[in-house]
Amino acid sequence: MKKRMLSGIKPSGQLHLGNYIGALRNFVRYQDDYEMVVFIANLHCITVPQEPTALQTNLRDAAALYIASGLDPQKATIFLQSDVMAHSQLSFILQSHSYLGELNRMTQYKDKVAKGETELTVGLYTYPTLMAADILIQDAHYVPVGIDQKQHVELTRDIAQRMNNRYKKTLFTIPEPLIEKVGSKIYSLQNVENKMSKSDTTEKDIIYLLDPVKTATKKIMSAVTDSENKIAYDPVNQPGISNLLTIAASLQVQNIDTIVSECKNMQYGAFKKYVADIVAKTLSEIQDKYNEVIESNMLEKVLQDGAEKAAITANNRLAMVQETLGLEIIGGKL
Ligand code: AMP
Ligand code: TRP
Repeated sequence: MKKRMLSGIKPSGQLHLGNYIGALRNFVRYQDDYEMVVFIANLHCITVPQEPTALQTNLRDAAALYIASGLDPQKATIFLQSDVMAHSQLSFILQSHSYLGELNRMTQYKDKVAKGETELTVGLYTYPTLMAADILIQDAHYVPVGIDQKQHVELTRDIAQRMNNRYKKTLFTIPEPLIEKVGSKIYSLQNVENKMSKSDTTEKDIIYLLDPVKTATKKIMSAVTDSENKIAYDPVNQPGISNLLTIAASLQVQNIDTIVSECKNMQYGAFKKYVADIVAKTLSEIQDKYNEVIESNMLEKVLQDGAEKAAITANNRLAMVQETLGLEIIGGKL
């Protein structure tokens, strides 16, 4: 039997090249060899304020981009997190088996506190326990994610092990994070020490998957480099060039060394054009398919079928957990 692999993306903004390289393209690569379960983490989005109309557009676009990037709804189960309500229910149970100290250590929350951000929601604080529920309720063996999510998968493992031990039963499969060697952290094009992220302040930092190809090319052409004047993979001294090399290698599915030897005699302008052409090719393929998906009206059916399938696994696991914890009187079958 194929092992189960699960991942999700939180489209609190439009999906970008970091999401594609760090996560999405790997979902596609693995869909033949694993039982792939992918979802849109819409509840995670509202842990920070969202404008409802913009949120709905971002969720729809993300679902379309999953398929446009090559996920095949015949192979992968694709659904919206809130359509399978058992995820949230298990999340509360997991919160009741997690410690404040653990959640205090989660960098996503900790960083916002350190920056002095106020009005942080309780949802943001308990965010990792909902993520743990997403993973555990779907029986995932592997969780392909970018490096920023590793800590959350480790917390998931800790909670799962704790509960398996406490109740002396295999309530949950212990999941493993799957982090690619190349591309698990794509950096901003302007602030090369930060990851490319939806919260980037200027539009020039980030390439969205739905950016017009011309816009994306301009952004690459104005990416920050250095004054070394050589094409080499050296993230410490040449972070900008190294980031562009990582982008090119990931999209071409080639070694970074191969790209370096191909480009080593280029000036920076020519090298940027070379990377921009690779990005443009990827974006235009994705965007053609995205337009087809939107026009075909297939999304509703894909999400409906996906939610029904995902609910079977989730409801079974939840019923088993609730029964084990002594929560049930009439068996939770109402
Ligand atoms: P998010 O957009 O935060 O929901 O992230 C969705 C997935 O994309 C997760 O697996 C992240 O680790 C991954 N991801 C987000 N930003 C980047 C980035 N700049 N580089 C690589 N992976 C990323
Ligand atoms: N927290 C993840 C992120 O921001 C999204 C996510 C939610 C997720 N639930 C998950 C990823 C379960 C993997 C598995 O990227």
